Amino acid sequence: MDKFNIAIDGPAGAGKSTIARLVAGALGFVYVDTGAMYRAVTWKVQQEGLSPDQESEVIALANRMRIELVPTAEGQQVYVDGVDVTKAIRTIAITDHVSQIASIGAIRELLVAMQKQMAVSKGIVMDGRDIGTHVIPDAELKIFLTASVSERAERRFKEMQSSGTCTMTLEELAQDIARRDQLDQNREISPLRRADDAILMDSTSMTINEVVDEILGLCKSKV
Ligand code: C5P
Repeated sequence: MDKFNIAIDGPAGAGKSTIARLVAGALGFVYVDTGAMYRAVTWKVQQEGLSPDQESEVIALANRMRIELVPTAEGQQVYVDGVDVTKAIRTIAITDHVSQIASIGAIRELLVAMQKQMAVSKGIVMDGRDIGTHVIPDAELKIFLTASVSERAERRFKEMQSSGTCTMTLEELAQDIARRDQLDQNREISPLRRADDAILMDSTSMTINEVVDEILGLCKSKV
């Protein structure tokens, strides 16, 4: 199959990562989770004892650090300066501050440049918030994946329960998701929004497989 790029954007907990990973696997493409890159910067900021408010120090640190994304059968491993942070970037301490870090213009510029570079050779399924609008505006297929806040919270809750990482109530999760939606949609630079040419998919009452199959069906017209 000829390679092309797929951009999957949408709010927190819409199932983007799982779906992007499955679509990439089915097509033999590479999955790139861009949220992990913002999380990696947030992790490093915390390791260095910086506050997200110390913008110039945060920007200097981000420019010094090395982020590596290694595709695996399960998705993607994330390394910061050679340290495997794949699990560490998923903690609440990171989730609480990542949207603030992601609202810093110079951080976005740095990470978006890396993401654009990854997409040059095509065959990428990239998920995030600004992929269809800024990172790969020429992606051959753009999906904007959403679901209701309560459905997204419930999915995250079940996911965390089954992985034994659940430290929040369902209610707290819903509040956190709504808070991040708010920050991501209202930030000045590259806010979360659907690209004009992105296909809107509401997965509230769809299974993961139904969403994946629909996207794979859309891919058929691209080859
Ligand atoms: O996708 P995930 O929930 O891991 O992303 C964490 C945060 O990173 C988001 O809430 C958002 O603030 C930020 N992000 C972003 N642009 C992207 C991907 C993620 O601003 N392309």
